[in-house]
Amino acid sequence: MNWLRLLKAKVKFKEPLKKHTSFKVGGACDYFIEPRDVDDLKLLIKSLKKDKIPFRVLGLGSNTLVCDKGVRGAVIHLGSPCFKRISVQNNFVDAGAGSYLNKLIRLAAKQGLAGLEFLSGIPGTVGGALIMNAGRTREFPGFGGLVESVTIVDYRGSIRILKKKDLKFGYRKSNLSKYIILSVRIKLIKKNKTKIQGDISRYIRYRKNSQDLSHPSAGCIFKNPPASSAGRLIDLCGLKERRIGDAVVSGKHANFIVNDGDAKALDILRLMNLIRKEVKKKFNLNLEPEVEIWQ
Ligand code: FAD
Ligand code: EPU
Repeated sequence: MNWLRLLKAKVKFKEPLKKHTSFKVGGACDYFIEPRDVDDLKLLIKSLKKDKIPFRVLGLGSNTLVCDKGVRGAVIHLGSPCFKRISVQNNFVDAGAGSYLNKLIRLAAKQGLAGLEFLSGIPGTVGGALIMNAGRTREFPGFGGLVESVTIVDYRGSIRILKKKDLKFGYRKSNLSKYIILSVRIKLIKKNKTKIQGDISRYIRYRKNSQDLSHPSAGCIFKNPPASSAGRLIDLCGLKERRIGDAVVSGKHANFIVNDGDAKALDILRLMNLIRKEVKKKFNLNLEPEVEIWQ
Protein backbone atom coordinates (compact mmCIF):
# COMPACT_ATOMS: atom_id res chain seq x y z
CA MET A 1 0.00 0.00 0.00
CA ASN A 2 2.86 2.40 -0.75
CA TRP A 3 0.57 4.44 -2.94
CA LEU A 4 -1.49 5.50 0.06
CA ARG A 5 1.50 7.47 1.31
CA LEU A 6 1.96 9.18 -2.07
CA LEU A 7 -1.58 10.52 -2.17
CA LYS A 8 -2.77 13.87 -0.86
CA ALA A 9 -6.24 12.32 -0.61
CA LYS A 10 -8.36 11.84 2.51
CA VAL A 11 -8.61 8.09 3.10
CA LYS A 12 -10.96 6.32 5.50
CA PHE A 13 -10.71 2.60 6.18
CA LYS A 14 -13.74 0.32 6.58
CA GLU A 15 -16.05 3.29 6.05
CA PRO A 16 -19.78 2.39 6.40
CA LEU A 17 -21.46 3.39 3.14
CA LYS A 18 -24.81 3.87 4.90
CA LYS A 19 -23.31 7.24 5.93
CA HIS A 20 -23.00 8.16 2.26
CA THR A 21 -26.29 6.99 0.71
CA SER A 22 -29.70 8.64 0.82
CA PHE A 23 -31.25 5.24 1.74
CA LYS A 24 -29.02 5.19 4.87
CA VAL A 25 -28.32 1.55 4.09
CA GLY A 26 -25.19 -0.42 3.21
CA GLY A 27 -22.07 -2.04 4.66
CA ALA A 28 -18.50 -0.77 4.55
CA CYS A 29 -15.96 -0.44 1.76
CA ASP A 30 -12.27 -1.16 2.34
CA TYR A 31 -11.14 2.38 1.44
CA PHE A 32 -13.23 5.53 1.08
CA ILE A 33 -11.02 7.97 -0.79
CA GLU A 34 -11.45 11.67 -1.54
CA PRO A 35 -8.68 12.73 -3.95
CA ARG A 36 -7.46 16.31 -3.46
CA ASP A 37 -7.18 17.20 -7.16
CA VAL A 38 -6.99 15.74 -10.66
CA ASP A 39 -3.32 14.70 -10.42
CA ASP A 40 -4.07 12.94 -7.16
CA LEU A 41 -7.01 11.15 -8.82
CA LYS A 42 -4.85 10.05 -11.77
CA LEU A 43 -2.19 8.70 -9.42
CA LEU A 44 -4.86 6.94 -7.40
CA ILE A 45 -6.39 5.21 -10.45
CA LYS A 46 -3.00 4.06 -11.72
CA SER A 47 -2.06 2.71 -8.27
CA LEU A 48 -5.35 0.90 -7.72
CA LYS A 49 -5.07 -0.64 -11.16
CA LYS A 50 -1.47 -1.73 -10.55
CA ASP A 51 -2.43 -3.38 -7.23
CA LYS A 52 -5.57 -4.89 -8.81
CA ILE A 53 -7.83 -3.18 -6.26
CA PRO A 54 -11.38 -2.77 -7.59
CA PHE A 55 -12.92 0.70 -7.35
CA ARG A 56 -16.17 2.58 -7.93
CA VAL A 57 -17.27 6.20 -7.73
CA LEU A 58 -19.98 7.46 -5.42
CA GLY A 59 -21.63 10.86 -5.81
CA LEU A 60 -24.29 11.81 -3.26
CA GLY A 61 -25.46 8.18 -3.10
CA SER A 62 -29.05 9.18 -3.89
CA ASN A 63 -29.56 6.49 -6.51
CA THR A 64 -27.45 3.72 -5.03
CA LEU A 65 -28.41 0.72 -2.91
CA VAL A 66 -25.33 -0.80 -1.24
CA CYS A 67 -25.65 -4.39 0.00
CA ASP A 68 -25.31 -5.16 3.71
CA LYS A 69 -21.87 -6.74 3.48
CA GLY A 70 -20.55 -3.64 1.72
CA VAL A 71 -18.18 -3.67 -1.26
CA ARG A 72 -14.56 -4.71 -1.57
CA GLY A 73 -11.90 -2.29 -2.68
CA ALA A 74 -12.06 1.47 -2.96
CA VAL A 75 -14.94 3.90 -3.22
CA ILE A 76 -13.86 7.22 -4.72
CA HIS A 77 -15.78 10.34 -3.78
CA LEU A 78 -15.14 13.63 -5.59
CA GLY A 79 -15.93 15.74 -2.56
CA SER A 80 -12.94 18.08 -2.48
CA PRO A 81 -13.33 21.69 -3.70
CA CYS A 82 -11.34 21.01 -6.90
CA PHE A 83 -14.19 18.82 -8.21
CA LYS A 84 -16.98 21.21 -7.19
CA ARG A 85 -16.14 24.26 -9.28
CA ILE A 86 -18.82 25.86 -11.44
CA SER A 87 -18.07 28.60 -13.96
CA VAL A 88 -20.22 30.46 -16.47
CA GLN A 89 -19.24 31.95 -19.81
CA ASN A 90 -22.01 33.36 -22.00
CA ASN A 91 -24.48 30.49 -22.48
CA PHE A 92 -22.04 27.79 -21.40
CA VAL A 93 -21.64 26.42 -17.89
CA ASP A 94 -18.77 24.19 -16.79
CA ALA A 95 -19.55 22.17 -13.67
CA GLY A 96 -17.33 19.83 -11.68
CA ALA A 97 -18.67 16.30 -11.27
CA GLY A 98 -18.73 16.64 -7.48
CA SER A 99 -20.86 19.79 -7.49
CA TYR A 100 -24.45 19.54 -6.33
CA LEU A 101 -27.18 19.63 -8.94
CA ASN A 102 -29.23 22.09 -6.91
CA LYS A 103 -26.32 24.51 -6.60
CA LEU A 104 -25.80 24.36 -10.36
CA ILE A 105 -29.48 25.11 -11.00
CA ARG A 106 -29.49 28.07 -8.57
CA LEU A 107 -26.30 29.52 -10.02
CA ALA A 108 -27.59 29.28 -13.59
CA ALA A 109 -30.91 30.87 -12.59
CA LYS A 110 -29.08 33.82 -10.99
CA GLN A 111 -27.37 34.44 -14.33
CA GLY A 112 -30.67 34.23 -16.22
CA LEU A 113 -29.73 30.91 -17.82
CA ALA A 114 -32.55 28.44 -18.37
CA GLY A 115 -32.74 24.74 -19.21
CA LEU A 116 -32.00 23.01 -15.91
CA GLU A 117 -35.28 23.79 -14.12
CA PHE A 118 -36.77 20.31 -14.69
CA LEU A 119 -34.02 18.90 -12.44
CA SER A 120 -35.04 21.06 -9.46
CA GLY A 121 -35.50 19.06 -6.28
CA ILE A 122 -33.49 16.05 -7.48
CA PRO A 123 -30.76 15.33 -4.95
CA GLY A 124 -27.39 14.33 -6.39
CA THR A 125 -24.14 15.44 -7.90
CA VAL A 126 -23.49 16.48 -11.48
CA GLY A 127 -21.49 13.24 -12.03
CA GLY A 128 -24.29 11.02 -10.73
CA ALA A 129 -26.92 12.95 -12.68
CA LEU A 130 -24.96 12.48 -15.91
CA ILE A 131 -24.38 8.74 -15.45
CA MET A 132 -28.10 8.29 -14.70
CA ASN A 133 -29.23 10.90 -17.27
CA ALA A 134 -31.40 12.20 -14.44
CA GLY A 135 -34.66 13.88 -15.25
CA ARG A 136 -38.37 13.44 -15.48
CA THR A 137 -39.91 10.28 -16.80
CA ARG A 138 -39.22 8.04 -19.82
CA GLU A 139 -40.92 10.39 -22.31
CA PHE A 140 -38.72 13.45 -21.58
CA PRO A 141 -35.05 14.07 -22.35
CA GLY A 142 -32.83 14.13 -19.26
CA PHE A 143 -29.75 16.06 -18.16
CA GLY A 144 -27.78 14.57 -21.08
CA GLY A 145 -29.86 16.64 -23.50
CA LEU A 146 -28.02 19.80 -22.37
CA VAL A 147 -24.50 18.44 -22.62
CA GLU A 148 -21.89 19.82 -25.03
CA SER A 149 -18.89 17.83 -23.75
CA VAL A 150 -17.75 15.76 -20.79
CA THR A 151 -14.24 15.53 -19.34
CA ILE A 152 -13.44 12.08 -18.00
CA VAL A 153 -10.60 10.03 -16.58
CA ASP A 154 -10.50 6.58 -18.11
CA TYR A 155 -9.58 3.51 -16.13
CA ARG A 156 -5.95 3.79 -17.24
CA GLY A 157 -5.77 7.18 -15.53
CA SER A 158 -5.79 9.30 -18.73
CA ILE A 159 -7.92 12.42 -19.17
CA ARG A 160 -10.13 12.71 -22.26
CA ILE A 161 -12.78 15.11 -23.50
CA LEU A 162 -15.82 13.41 -24.99
CA LYS A 163 -17.80 15.56 -27.42
CA LYS A 164 -21.55 15.53 -27.93
CA LYS A 165 -21.23 13.08 -30.85
CA ASP A 166 -19.43 10.53 -28.59
CA LEU A 167 -22.17 10.60 -25.96
CA LYS A 168 -25.29 8.46 -25.72
CA PHE A 169 -28.08 9.10 -23.25
CA GLY A 170 -31.21 7.00 -22.75
CA TYR A 171 -33.88 6.65 -20.10
CA ARG A 172 -31.83 6.67 -16.85
CA LYS A 173 -28.71 5.49 -18.66
CA SER A 174 -25.66 6.75 -20.54
CA ASN A 175 -22.54 5.37 -22.16
CA LEU A 176 -20.40 7.06 -19.47
CA SER A 177 -20.47 4.42 -16.77
CA LYS A 178 -17.05 3.00 -17.67
CA TYR A 179 -15.37 6.34 -16.89
CA ILE A 180 -14.86 8.67 -13.96
CA ILE A 181 -16.54 11.93 -14.84
CA LEU A 182 -14.54 15.03 -13.93
CA SER A 183 -16.69 17.80 -15.32
CA VAL A 184 -19.34 18.67 -17.87
CA ARG A 185 -19.96 21.60 -20.20
CA ILE A 186 -23.63 22.36 -20.77
CA LYS A 187 -25.35 24.90 -23.01
CA LEU A 188 -28.26 26.88 -21.62
CA ILE A 189 -30.51 29.60 -22.98
CA LYS A 190 -31.05 33.17 -21.78
CA LYS A 191 -34.46 33.74 -20.20
CA ASN A 192 -36.22 36.06 -17.82
CA LYS A 193 -34.99 35.38 -14.26
CA THR A 194 -38.48 35.59 -12.72
CA LYS A 195 -39.79 33.04 -15.23
CA ILE A 196 -36.88 30.66 -14.44
CA GLN A 197 -37.46 31.04 -10.69
CA GLY A 198 -41.19 30.37 -11.15
CA ASP A 199 -40.46 27.17 -13.09
CA ILE A 200 -38.00 25.99 -10.43
CA SER A 201 -40.62 26.53 -7.71
CA ARG A 202 -43.22 24.67 -9.79
CA TYR A 203 -41.00 21.58 -10.20
CA ILE A 204 -40.08 21.56 -6.51
CA ARG A 205 -43.74 21.89 -5.51
CA TYR A 206 -44.72 19.01 -7.83
CA ARG A 207 -42.07 16.73 -6.28
CA LYS A 208 -43.01 17.73 -2.72
CA ASN A 209 -46.68 17.02 -3.41
CA SER A 210 -46.26 13.69 -5.20
CA GLN A 211 -43.15 12.11 -3.66
CA ASP A 212 -42.39 10.71 -0.21
CA LEU A 213 -39.67 12.96 1.20
CA SER A 214 -40.43 12.11 4.84
CA HIS A 215 -38.06 9.12 5.09
CA PRO A 216 -34.74 8.06 3.55
CA SER A 217 -35.13 6.55 0.06
CA ALA A 218 -33.42 6.45 -3.31
CA GLY A 219 -36.33 8.04 -5.18
CA CYS A 220 -38.17 5.76 -7.60
CA ILE A 221 -37.03 2.20 -7.15
CA PHE A 222 -38.17 0.86 -10.57
CA LYS A 223 -38.08 2.37 -14.05
CA ASN A 224 -41.40 3.11 -15.66
CA PRO A 225 -42.32 0.53 -18.31
CA PRO A 226 -43.06 2.08 -21.75
CA ALA A 227 -46.27 4.16 -21.70
CA SER A 228 -46.95 3.27 -18.09
CA SER A 229 -46.09 4.25 -14.53
CA ALA A 230 -44.45 1.80 -12.13
CA GLY A 231 -45.96 3.74 -9.20
CA ARG A 232 -49.48 3.37 -10.54
CA LEU A 233 -49.02 -0.36 -11.26
CA ILE A 234 -47.62 -1.07 -7.78
CA ASP A 235 -50.44 0.98 -6.26
CA LEU A 236 -53.03 -1.00 -8.25
CA CYS A 237 -51.53 -4.20 -6.82
CA GLY A 238 -52.50 -2.89 -3.38
CA LEU A 239 -48.89 -2.87 -2.19
CA LYS A 240 -48.77 0.56 -0.52
CA GLU A 241 -47.44 0.25 3.04
CA ARG A 242 -46.31 -3.37 2.49
CA ARG A 243 -43.35 -3.91 4.82
CA ILE A 244 -40.38 -6.25 5.07
CA GLY A 245 -38.33 -5.41 8.16
CA ASP A 246 -37.97 -1.63 8.11
CA ALA A 247 -38.29 -1.40 4.30
CA VAL A 248 -41.76 -0.09 3.41
CA VAL A 249 -43.58 0.70 0.18
CA SER A 250 -44.47 4.36 0.66
CA GLY A 251 -48.11 5.14 1.28
CA LYS A 252 -47.69 8.39 -0.68
CA HIS A 253 -45.91 7.11 -3.83
CA ALA A 254 -45.88 3.37 -4.45
CA ASN A 255 -42.65 3.45 -6.52
CA PHE A 256 -40.77 4.73 -3.45
CA ILE A 257 -39.42 2.22 -0.94
CA VAL A 258 -38.58 4.06 2.26
CA ASN A 259 -36.30 3.21 5.15
CA ASP A 260 -38.54 3.38 8.20
CA GLY A 261 -35.77 3.11 10.79
CA ASP A 262 -33.01 0.58 10.34
CA ALA A 263 -33.82 -1.17 7.05
CA LYS A 264 -31.28 -3.63 5.70
CA ALA A 265 -30.43 -3.81 2.01
CA LEU A 266 -31.75 -7.38 2.10
CA ASP A 267 -35.17 -6.12 3.30
CA ILE A 268 -35.27 -3.68 0.40
CA LEU A 269 -34.20 -6.31 -2.15
CA ARG A 270 -36.83 -8.77 -0.83
CA LEU A 271 -39.51 -6.09 -1.04
CA MET A 272 -38.41 -5.29 -4.60
CA ASN A 273 -38.74 -9.00 -5.49
CA LEU A 274 -42.20 -9.18 -3.98
CA ILE A 275 -43.28 -6.11 -5.97
CA ARG A 276 -41.86 -7.50 -9.21
CA LYS A 277 -43.72 -10.81 -8.68
CA GLU A 278 -47.05 -9.10 -7.96
CA VAL A 279 -46.78 -6.70 -10.93
CA LYS A 280 -45.79 -9.59 -13.22
CA LYS A 281 -48.77 -11.65 -11.98
CA LYS A 282 -51.33 -8.86 -12.35
CA PHE A 283 -50.08 -7.02 -15.46
CA ASN A 284 -47.62 -9.45 -17.10
CA LEU A 285 -44.96 -6.70 -17.01
CA ASN A 286 -41.36 -6.98 -15.82
CA LEU A 287 -40.25 -4.04 -13.68
CA GLU A 288 -36.58 -3.11 -13.98
CA PRO A 289 -34.71 -1.56 -11.04
CA GLU A 290 -34.06 2.16 -11.40
CA VAL A 291 -31.54 2.24 -8.54
CA GLU A 292 -27.94 1.13 -8.97
CA ILE A 293 -27.38 -1.95 -6.84
CA TRP A 294 -23.87 -2.41 -5.44
CA GLN A 295 -23.12 -5.96 -4.37
P1 FAD B 1 -24.98 8.24 -6.94
O1 FAD B 1 -26.16 7.52 -6.38
O2 FAD B 1 -23.89 8.59 -6.02
O3 FAD B 1 -24.39 7.39 -8.15
C1 FAD B 1 -25.23 6.94 -9.19
C2 FAD B 1 -24.33 6.23 -10.23
O4 FAD B 1 -23.45 7.19 -10.81
C3 FAD B 1 -23.42 5.17 -9.62
O5 FAD B 1 -23.30 4.13 -10.55
C4 FAD B 1 -22.09 5.86 -9.44
O6 FAD B 1 -21.00 4.97 -9.53
C5 FAD B 1 -22.09 6.80 -10.64
N1 FAD B 1 -21.31 8.02 -10.44
C6 FAD B 1 -21.55 9.04 -9.58
N2 FAD B 1 -20.66 10.04 -9.75
C7 FAD B 1 -19.81 9.64 -10.74
C8 FAD B 1 -18.66 10.20 -11.38
N3 FAD B 1 -18.18 11.40 -11.05
N4 FAD B 1 -18.06 9.48 -12.35
C9 FAD B 1 -18.51 8.25 -12.69
N5 FAD B 1 -19.57 7.66 -12.13
C10 FAD B 1 -20.23 8.34 -11.16
N6 FAD B 1 -33.60 10.84 -10.27
C11 FAD B 1 -34.14 11.31 -11.41
O7 FAD B 1 -33.59 11.07 -12.49
N7 FAD B 1 -35.28 12.06 -11.38
C12 FAD B 1 -35.93 12.35 -10.22
O8 FAD B 1 -36.95 13.01 -10.26
C13 FAD B 1 -35.36 11.88 -9.00
N8 FAD B 1 -35.95 12.14 -7.82
C14 FAD B 1 -35.39 11.67 -6.68
C15 FAD B 1 -36.00 11.98 -5.45
C16 FAD B 1 -35.45 11.52 -4.26
C17 FAD B 1 -36.12 11.85 -2.96
C18 FAD B 1 -34.25 10.74 -4.28
C19 FAD B 1 -33.62 10.25 -3.00
C20 FAD B 1 -33.66 10.42 -5.48
C21 FAD B 1 -34.21 10.88 -6.70
N9 FAD B 1 -33.62 10.59 -7.93
C22 FAD B 1 -34.17 11.09 -9.08
C23 FAD B 1 -32.45 9.71 -8.02
C24 FAD B 1 -31.10 10.45 -7.89
O9 FAD B 1 -31.24 11.60 -7.10
C25 FAD B 1 -30.50 10.84 -9.25
O10 FAD B 1 -30.31 9.72 -10.07
C26 FAD B 1 -29.16 11.57 -9.05
O11 FAD B 1 -28.80 12.15 -10.27
C27 FAD B 1 -28.03 10.64 -8.60
O12 FAD B 1 -26.89 11.41 -8.29
P2 FAD B 1 -25.84 10.95 -7.16
O13 FAD B 1 -24.70 11.86 -7.17
O14 FAD B 1 -26.55 10.81 -5.86
O15 FAD B 1 -25.46 9.53 -7.73
N1 EPU C 1 -49.43 7.16 -9.29
C1 EPU C 1 -50.36 6.39 -8.63
N2 EPU C 1 -50.01 5.87 -7.42
C2 EPU C 1 -48.79 6.09 -6.86
C3 EPU C 1 -47.84 6.85 -7.55
C4 EPU C 1 -48.18 7.40 -8.78
O1 EPU C 1 -51.46 6.16 -9.13
O2 EPU C 1 -48.57 5.58 -5.75
C5 EPU C 1 -49.82 7.76 -10.58
C6 EPU C 1 -49.89 9.30 -10.47
O3 EPU C 1 -51.14 9.71 -10.00
C7 EPU C 1 -49.62 9.73 -11.90
C8 EPU C 1 -48.69 8.62 -12.44
O4 EPU C 1 -48.82 7.51 -11.56
O5 EPU C 1 -50.81 9.70 -12.65
C9 EPU C 1 -47.24 9.08 -12.52
O6 EPU C 1 -46.75 9.45 -11.23
P1 EPU C 1 -45.72 10.67 -11.01
O7 EPU C 1 -46.26 11.91 -11.62
O8 EPU C 1 -45.34 10.69 -9.59
O9 EPU C 1 -44.48 10.27 -11.90
P2 EPU C 1 -43.68 8.93 -12.00
O10 EPU C 1 -43.84 8.42 -13.39
O11 EPU C 1 -44.00 8.02 -10.88
C10 EPU C 1 -41.42 9.95 -12.88
C11 EPU C 1 -39.98 9.66 -12.52
C12 EPU C 1 -39.59 10.47 -11.29
C13 EPU C 1 -39.79 11.95 -11.58
C14 EPU C 1 -41.27 12.18 -11.93
C15 EPU C 1 -41.60 13.63 -12.25
C16 EPU C 1 -39.44 7.38 -13.12
C17 EPU C 1 -39.31 5.97 -12.65
N3 EPU C 1 -39.84 8.26 -12.20
O12 EPU C 1 -42.20 9.47 -11.79
O13 EPU C 1 -38.21 10.23 -11.05
O14 EPU C 1 -39.48 12.72 -10.44
O15 EPU C 1 -41.62 11.36 -13.07
O16 EPU C 1 -40.89 14.08 -13.31
O17 EPU C 1 -39.21 7.66 -14.29
C18 EPU C 1 -36.58 8.91 -9.87
O18 EPU C 1 -36.10 8.64 -10.98
O19 EPU C 1 -36.07 8.52 -8.79
C19 EPU C 1 -37.79 9.73 -9.82
C20 EPU C 1 -38.41 10.01 -8.68
